[in-house]
Amino acid sequence: MGSVIWSLLLVVFLQIYIIAATTDAGDSAALKSLMDEWEKAPPSWVGGDPCGDSWVGIGCNDSRVTSVTLPSMKLVGRLSGDISTLSELQQVDLSYNNGLTGSLPTSIGNLKKLTNLILVGCGFNGPIPDAIGSLSQLRFLSLNSNGFTGRIPPSIGNLSNLYWLDLADNQLEGPIPVSSGSTPGLDMLIHTKHFHFGKNKLSGQIPAQLFSSSMTLIHVLFESNKLTGILPSTLGHVRTLEVVRFDNNSLNGRLPLNINNLTSVHDLFLSNNKLTGPLPNLTQMNSLNTLYLSNNSFDSADVPSWFPALPALTTLMMENTQLRGQIPAIFFELPNLQTVLVGNPVCDETGTTRSYCNLPPSNSSPLYSTPSQNCLPVPCSSSQISSPLCRCAYPYTGTLNFRGLLFSAFGNSTPYQILEQSLMHFFQSHQLPVDSVSLSDPRMDPNEYFLLNLRAFPYGQESFNRTGISMIAFVFSNQTFKPPDQLFGPYFFRGDEYEHFSDDPANSKKSSIAIKIGAAAGASVLFLLLVLAGIYAYRQKKRAERATKESNPFAHWDPKKSSGSIPQLKGARCFSFEELKKYANNFSEANDIGSGGYGKVVYRGTLPTGELIAIKRAQQGSMQGGLEFKTEIELLSRVHHKNVVSLLGFCFERGEQMLIYEYVPNGSLSDSLSGKSGIRMDWTRRLKIALGAARGLAYLHELANPPIIHRDIKSTNILLDERLNAKVADFGLSKPMGDSERGHVTTQVKGTMGLFGS
Ligand SMILES: *[C@@H]1O[C@H](CO)[C@@H](O)[C@H](O)[C@H]1NC(C)=O
Ligand SMILES: *[C@@H]1O[C@H](CO)[C@@H](O)[C@H](O)[C@H]1NC(C)=O
Ligand SMILES: *[C@@H]1O[C@H](CO)[C@@H](O)[C@H](O)[C@H]1NC(C)=O
Ligand SMILES: *[C@@H]1O[C@H](CO)[C@@H](O)[C@H](O)[C@H]1NC(C)=O
Ligand SMILES: *[C@@H]1O[C@H](CO)[C@@H](O)[C@H](O)[C@H]1NC(C)=O
Ligand SMILES: *[C@@H]1O[C@H](CO)[C@@H](O)[C@H](O)[C@H]1NC(C)=O
Ligand SMILES: *[C@@H]1O[C@H](CO)[C@@H](O)[C@H](O)[C@H]1NC(C)=O
Ligand SMILES: *[C@@H]1O[C@H](CO)[C@@H](O)[C@H](O)[C@H]1NC(C)=O
Repeated sequence: MGSVIWSLLLVVFLQIYIIAATTDAGDSAALKSLMDEWEKAPPSWVGGDPCGDSWVGIGCNDSRVTSVTLPSMKLVGRLSGDISTLSELQQVDLSYNNGLTGSLPTSIGNLKKLTNLILVGCGFNGPIPDAIGSLSQLRFLSLNSNGFTGRIPPSIGNLSNLYWLDLADNQLEGPIPVSSGSTPGLDMLIHTKHFHFGKNKLSGQIPAQLFSSSMTLIHVLFESNKLTGILPSTLGHVRTLEVVRFDNNSLNGRLPLNINNLTSVHDLFLSNNKLTGPLPNLTQMNSLNTLYLSNNSFDSADVPSWFPALPALTTLMMENTQLRGQIPAIFFELPNLQTVLVGNPVCDETGTTRSYCNLPPSNSSPLYSTPSQNCLPVPCSSSQISSPLCRCAYPYTGTLNFRGLLFSAFGNSTPYQILEQSLMHFFQSHQLPVDSVSLSDPRMDPNEYFLLNLRAFPYGQESFNRTGISMIAFVFSNQTFKPPDQLFGPYFFRGDEYEHFSDDPANSKKSSIAIKIGAAAGASVLFLLLVLAGIYAYRQKKRAERATKESNPFAHWDPKKSSGSIPQLKGARCFSFEELKKYANNFSEANDIGSGGYGKVVYRGTLPTGELIAIKRAQQGSMQGGLEFKTEIELLSRVHHKNVVSLLGFCFERGEQMLIYEYVPNGSLSDSLSGKSGIRMDWTRRLKIALGAARGLAYLHELANPPIIHRDIKSTNILLDERLNAKVADFGLSKPMGDSERGHVTTQVKGTMGLFGS
């Protein structure tokens, strides 16, 4: 635990220097400032190049950040206004991070290229900034399920490209804005398909101007607000509508007769209002599947004979709606029609015991749960769950919230199976790492949303990594996945926090981490080295020149490859094989202090002066080409800084390739953090080491010529000298290159990313 906190601190310090290697400097700084506002950044957010270093959730084009996609990442903190300087940003998705709070910065209006702004299910509050209206490219705006307050900004009416507008489940109040004079309003959104405003505190009348025949809306959801007055007849002009919800408001007056013209509507929810007058004649609504009219004050009337004649109707809810008289016989002939007429005179007066005069039983036994697929569920340890394919894993979970449905038989498994198949087909065709999905516990919530629990199991592993989770969560937050529309209406998804990221150090198995750290530490520790005093370095150089003249070891370098010339060294000398053999006690096992990675073994040696050295010796199969070896030596020999391990020399003869480094006595930082070295790491020491490592990296980035990007910074690569000064180690070209790359000189360095990697 301590080492995690410490590593975080180190990250913060390192970032000060690392940021801005390749990616646009402004973008790096902006991401850093986002990170500063968060308690924890994703572990892969290390290294100076968000675009080149594969930071999770960051998408780039041409070294500019174009997307930030971090749903369900357990982010905690605020959204920094500096996000506005990511001027090429097109897509932001921070959904399902409950810990993201505070207000939406006004500067977000500067992101002129933004097309998708998705912040579903976070903890944002305060007003929605008016500046949102200047995001003229915006197509997808989802701010639902947060704590936003204040009014709907009229400027949203300026977003003429908007296709999806979801502000549901907030604390928004005041009237629905419509345009007037130079003030924009929602009536201008003629290309928008989705108006989702449910579960807010919107008040006042529904402006007649809001709707017009030029609109192309398919979903108009205003349920559970405080709207008053009548339902304007202009609604009947929006012939594209499919789902209409005004339930649980305080609407009164008569329903407009032309509602009957909405022939594509399949879900119409008007229950829990104060509607009066006669029930309208809805015979033309051929698509109507679900009709909720309960708890209104319609004129007392006979049960309309045309209800059962609506060809698509499966759910008819008419509690407390003043129906009287005889129930048409045809009601009894429609077994698939779920009808609730409880509270009407038609039930009360006749004392009928027909099922539709009772509320449907609230099922206590689960109606559906995806069964195992021809296998026996396996017992799983701890919080793992047996998947439908009977494999234990940590699934990604969440709740699908449907705001409309086209079936009523919740106990029938067919719709769920169709949804499962459609999910799996989607995941597979989009190459997402999902093995199987399960659905469970279908239920209606008090707002008449239909809820289903979803679990997605990881493919070929026990848990998802962050990339996997962010891709899967995005599929739902962006509505890229569309459920089969012959059964399911509009939905939104609430993702749960994921606790078992496979790339989260806290979740890896302790033992395997220890083994990895041990191995890697042992290896890297060995090799690294001591700062050469200037005079000594100079002397060594002279000696190297002499040695060169005497033995001409560079005859091994193929002159035809223009690598025949003597390396241009600064301060490093050439050792002979015999010399090193003696210093390292014949390369005895006792002097073997670990593996150096990429097929290298590291030996401790003692110079005749008594000074210790670390000899990194390439094994058969890990040899570099002559030119690469020379290039590497030249590069490393030029690097001199007290926080960077120094190269003392090399050996290139008798088919050997060896690099000789200063010996760093206290091993790696990871040894100390893990307690292996026995060095106590108090905070003063930690701070000093962090600063030292940062200085070393800053030197490599900014002062070395050519600049060196480490790309493999982690605690095993930071060594501690006798006074616990940090020395950055293991940079360089030591990765063997493939044949195709031979002869190609690069300053790109190898390695895994991240302080938490191993
Ligand atoms: C990347 O940006 C260039 C212009 O800078 C654009 O032409 C290209 O289409 C972009 N590529 C992608 C994948 O967006
Ligand atoms: C919205 O558009 C109007 C003109 O159509 C313009 O005057 C106004 O500044 C715009 N508002 C925003 C917030 O962009
Ligand atoms: C339905 O639409 C037609 C035109 O498409 C119109 O003539 C008719 O009056 C409308 N019905 C109602 C009740 O408004
Ligand atoms: C309902 O309207 C249709 C025409 O749209 C008409 O044929 C039918 O008679 C009306 N039914 C009632 C009960 O008014
Ligand atoms: C109708 O109102 C009653 C009492 O307020 C409530 O219990 C019931 O759930 C409501 N019915 C519907 C369908 O909303
Ligand atoms: C109706 O809306 C109010 C808020 O306006 C909400 O508190 C309540 O839960 C809703 N009731 C139903 C049955 O949807
Ligand atoms: C994350 O998981 C995906 C799929 O399982 C895999 O392709 C990818 O390489 C992993 N990424 C990292 C950084 O481990
Ligand atoms: C987001 O969803 C929209 C439509 O729902 C789709 O057109 C777009 O391609 C999606 N974005 C990505 C990156 O998948």
